[in-house]
Amino acid sequence: MGQGPQQATGEDKKVQETLQSTGEIPQHIAIIMDGNGRWAKQRAMPRIAGHSEGVESVRDTVEACGQLGVKYLTLYAFSTENWKRPQEEVSLLMRLLLRALKDETDRLHNNNVRLQAIGDIPALPLEMQNELMEDIQKTKDNTGLNLILALSYSGRWDLTEAVKRVVCDVQANNVEVKQIDEKLIASHLSTAGVPDPDLLIRTSGELRISNFLLWQLAYTEIFITRKHWPSFRRDELYQAIAEYQKRERRFGMVTEQLKKTSGQGNYLNQFLKSGTGP
Ligand code: FPP
Repeated sequence: MGQGPQQATGEDKKVQETLQSTGEIPQHIAIIMDGNGRWAKQRAMPRIAGHSEGVESVRDTVEACGQLGVKYLTLYAFSTENWKRPQEEVSLLMRLLLRALKDETDRLHNNNVRLQAIGDIPALPLEMQNELMEDIQKTKDNTGLNLILALSYSGRWDLTEAVKRVVCDVQANNVEVKQIDEKLIASHLSTAGVPDPDLLIRTSGELRISNFLLWQLAYTEIFITRKHWPSFRRDELYQAIAEYQKRERRFGMVTEQLKKTSGQGNYLNQFLKSGTGP
């Protein structure tokens, strides 16, 4: 098992401690890492240079999340739609992702990070599938941050696959149609067992979900920054968390209900435990 995240130091540590004491650290953060191409274009560099600098942003974000005690970080690294990009960019991106996995897994492991992947993994180049499986296996017993890479992923793909599995269960007489509810559907998604994201961060200013975790983002707080992904570092992450801590998450209820307490805690906690929406 890995050793645990290398601790923050100096001013950075103080900022992290402030965030931890002023409010709740989101349990699950999801990120749409956008703007690599624009970042490179602004610098008259090839697009791949933007993706490459984006790996540095991933490294810093993963480290900061681990130190803060975030439990899940889901990164939209390659969407189903990204396959439609020019062949050369797709193949360079695949090579970059493979390189990043090879270079970073030991560091992830030493920081007690557990690597997971969601998406149409068999669609990836074989070498990448093998590397992923090896890295997932190596880090499987780690108990710190769960780093989930969304690769060849889209929300509609996820829902389509879930529907196929539910139908198979019905046809095999394992499930009756009247038993199909939100909990059952969630248990057939690629994120089964993972709590829904509390916070979605999107870089580069676009106001879209772009076919990311369509089901799972139902009640997620959204933070958009104009920064391109390669310029995103832990300072922006801290800003996003500070903003999240100011939001009131009502999950369709009214403010007064959130304040009322009962035997088992407030209504909100009961709602979250029940796993179903109002
Ligand atoms: C979006 O920018 C970014 C991607 C499609 C790829 C994201 C991949 C990385 C950051 C590589 C590292 C990832 C990991 C997990 C190690 P864009 O190309 O759409 O930018 P644009 O909208 O400005 O063209």
